[in-house]
Amino acid sequence: MSAALLGSTSVFQGAGSEGRRIVGLWWLMFAMGAAVYVVVAGLVLTAVVRGRRRARPAADSPTADDRFIWIGGLAVPVVILAVLAVVTVTTTSNLRPVRAGELAIEVTGRRWWWDIRYPDQGIRTANELHVPVGRPLDLVLTSADVVHSFWVPALAGKVDMVTGQVNHLRVTVDRPGTYRGECAEFCGLEHARMQMLVIADPPDVFERWMARVRSGAGTTPEDEMAARGALVFQREPCGGCHTVEGTPAKGTRGPELTYFGGRRTIAAATIPNDPKELAAWIRDPQDVKRGAEMPPNGMSAEDLDALVAYLESMR
Ligand code: CUA
Repeated sequence: MSAALLGSTSVFQGAGSEGRRIVGLWWLMFAMGAAVYVVVAGLVLTAVVRGRRRARPAADSPTADDRFIWIGGLAVPVVILAVLAVVTVTTTSNLRPVRAGELAIEVTGRRWWWDIRYPDQGIRTANELHVPVGRPLDLVLTSADVVHSFWVPALAGKVDMVTGQVNHLRVTVDRPGTYRGECAEFCGLEHARMQMLVIADPPDVFERWMARVRSGAGTTPEDEMAARGALVFQREPCGGCHTVEGTPAKGTRGPELTYFGGRRTIAAATIPNDPKELAAWIRDPQDVKRGAEMPPNGMSAEDLDALVAYLESMR
């Protein structure tokens, strides 16, 4: 996949308010650890070189050795660990402050995809989380089945998604970009392929995306092929699990499919969204992602092409 599709996974990017604090802490720990390493390695080298040059004098002052052990073995580690403890506790307690004007987004972990809702805007989508840059986000996290963990390394630390419990991840994204997230808690067969994209846009671009999704524009098939695909979608059992707004399909067991064509990826951000990959997925999801709940489908090649054309046309 291209770099844009992959999205950044670097924890050093610090593209979110939380991530930035964590990166700062990481660099402090790294600097202190590196300093200790250099000093210890230097002492070892000195000892080796001196030991070769001369034997230890019989009456070398034991008090100097004692002092070295007290300072190097106790005082210095206590100071280093105390500084790190204070900085770590301060940083941790400053994570996730509640802010005014938060945008609430509910993300529910499912095997193996992400159900995304904007409750105040009445929007539902899947696997690609659109967010505005600069606005505080309140990600409301839970699970519909087993324990998952929400982790977008460039933005923030991990937060568990637990059935029957709601956890919050409060973060403000600082820079526009595409950031890759993954499930960070083993949740079964396809845990490794439970990924997502966070698409962070400037506020006006985000608002345009949201307005488009709310309007329902572009979801009525315009060409013959897509229109036929819409009929296939209604005839086949697709609507039992999937929703397409403005149609009788109201299933919630599988990912929301309205505006599916506008997504960059399928199968929880693991495969590029193009007609060929989508056709292969619909024909036999088990071949692509073993254990996925979607059953294989034996429709004719013509029906499949039409269905793909319909889904890709909604953008
Ligand atoms: Cu969901 Cu691992």
